Amino acid sequence: MKRDFLTILDRDTEELRQLIHNAIELKKQRYTVPNKHLQGKSIALIFEKSSTRTRVSFEVGVTELGGYPLFLSSADIQLGRGESVKDTARVLSRYVSGIMIRTYGHSKVEELAKYASIPVINGLTDEFHPCQIMADVMTAYERFNTFDKIKVAYIGDGNNIAHSWLNAAARFGFELAIASPVGCEPNKEFVKTAMDEAKKTGGKIVVTSDPKVAVIGAHVVTTDVWASMGQESDAARKAEILAPYQVNRGLMSLASPEAIFMHCLPAHLGEEVTEELFESKASVVFDEAENRLHVQKAIMVDTYR
Ligand code: CP
Ligand code: NVA
Repeated sequence: MKRDFLTILDRDTEELRQLIHNAIELKKQRYTVPNKHLQGKSIALIFEKSSTRTRVSFEVGVTELGGYPLFLSSADIQLGRGESVKDTARVLSRYVSGIMIRTYGHSKVEELAKYASIPVINGLTDEFHPCQIMADVMTAYERFNTFDKIKVAYIGDGNNIAHSWLNAAARFGFELAIASPVGCEPNKEFVKTAMDEAKKTGGKIVVTSDPKVAVIGAHVVTTDVWASMGQESDAARKAEILAPYQVNRGLMSLASPEAIFMHCLPAHLGEEVTEELFESKASVVFDEAENRLHVQKAIMVDTYR
């Protein structure tokens, strides 16, 4: 049976921890012991939204694993002209060994996975960004050497990044506090699912509207853009209500003294984070970006069999 990687909840705690350990191994051995798991295999990388990190890290990752990456912009393939997801899935399944897709609604990825006979990895939807948060968990693990004895504070829009943090807290068993203003809260259903799942791992999830409450004692403080891709028409409203949620030195001073700052990037300096904090020693944003490569290689080794 093929296994897709559409959200972090698609794997159990042990499998996820193992993925991070494998990613750390792949990172160590990058130039000494090449892993050629995808030798002779082609992987389709479908993009319906822009990307720097996801595109480059998947193209490089597939290449380093000995495979051949096909960058498919929806502007150039028939999917962008209305060919159905169902037919696209069945056609690609006859050519390639795996698919990575970045798109809008999460249901599109689920439909693609349903009709593809090959495994599908989610490279961001409006609802989730599992590869990013796996890289973030890896980055936190490298710093604190634990999966569950940390507190993560996510400040800002209750978006795809926030939702994947919820899933990660549920599975890895750490403490997560999300602070979002009214009108930008994370999806209530996703919060409930994560809270239910967290009971099995000892994870603690709190959703508040107070950024200070969320940040107190946190080991990881993170945020994201105010308006995500596809939300451009709502950007002015969001900018107004999210302005008090800016992550800056003052807010960061409430976190643990060893706290790190994370951002999935791209960042809008002076909006969700100050340039001072972004450029400070506490900021690990480029380690996160690098770890996308390593963790996605581990996910591909596990998923594209
Ligand atoms: N963080 C992230 O997914 O970046 P890109 O949009 O550049 O891929
Ligand atoms: N929330 C952002 C993340 C970008 C990597 C977006 O969806 O645009």
